[in-house]
Amino acid sequence: MSGIMGSFSKEELEFTFLDEGFTAKDILDQKINEVSSSDDKDAFYVADLGDIVKKHMRWHKALPRVTPFYAVKCNDSEAVVKTLAVLGAGFDCASKTEIQLVQSIGVPPERIIYANPCKQLSQIKHAASSGVRMMTFDSEVELMKIARAHPKAKLVLRITTDDSKAVCRLSVKFGATLKTSRLLLERAKELDLAIVGVSFHVGSGCTDPETFVQAISDARCVFDMGG
Ligand SMILES: Cc1ncc(COP(=O)(O)O)c(C=O)c1O
Repeated sequence: MSGIMGSFSKEELEFTFLDEGFTAKDILDQKINEVSSSDDKDAFYVADLGDIVKKHMRWHKALPRVTPFYAVKCNDSEAVVKTLAVLGAGFDCASKTEIQLVQSIGVPPERIIYANPCKQLSQIKHAASSGVRMMTFDSEVELMKIARAHPKAKLVLRITTDDSKAVCRLSVKFGATLKTSRLLLERAKELDLAIVGVSFHVGSGCTDPETFVQAISDARCVFDMGG
């Protein structure tokens, strides 16, 4: 925690250390009382940043060679993003706005992936001018846009998964099949674009471990196709 405190002031992180004997629920009750007695009834939420730190440390212990890239869309509040930045996480940004947010707190471009497979040309240009090179793609149209606007990009090919067991299925709109992946790898080579990896999303709320096993095996297969 001292590393975190050294990088950002308490005010900057907008967090509160709980006094001895105080619980998050006490803070919540206090906040509800405050809001109820004022005219300012804006929505608010209370989050335990310590939980993020604990989960990050757990990840590191279990998967020391894997750097997590936090999907900013899940919660873009400054306190969350700053906490993860200080812990050394990478960031999965879906838009120019998210890239700007993460860069505004000093995250270097190498720790950012523009992980939207369907990007606007203007936003690809923004990534290029701000030094963000890693980005996902899943179609030839996307490769053409990147070749035009960001030829030095480091590409990650997003493949489909069998996400039929997920709460929110994402492979209905994103991801290339194994067959298409082979064609895309060839096309990228023709366009002289660098492919550095393969990605997938098992769907939001997927609790079936078999989906991950199959997706990892498919990713391996596509990775090997690329030589
Ligand atoms: C590339 C990428 N990363 C992360 C997420 C967030 O996924 P989840 O809602 O499962 O946390 C999404 C969802 O759209 C995504 O497309």
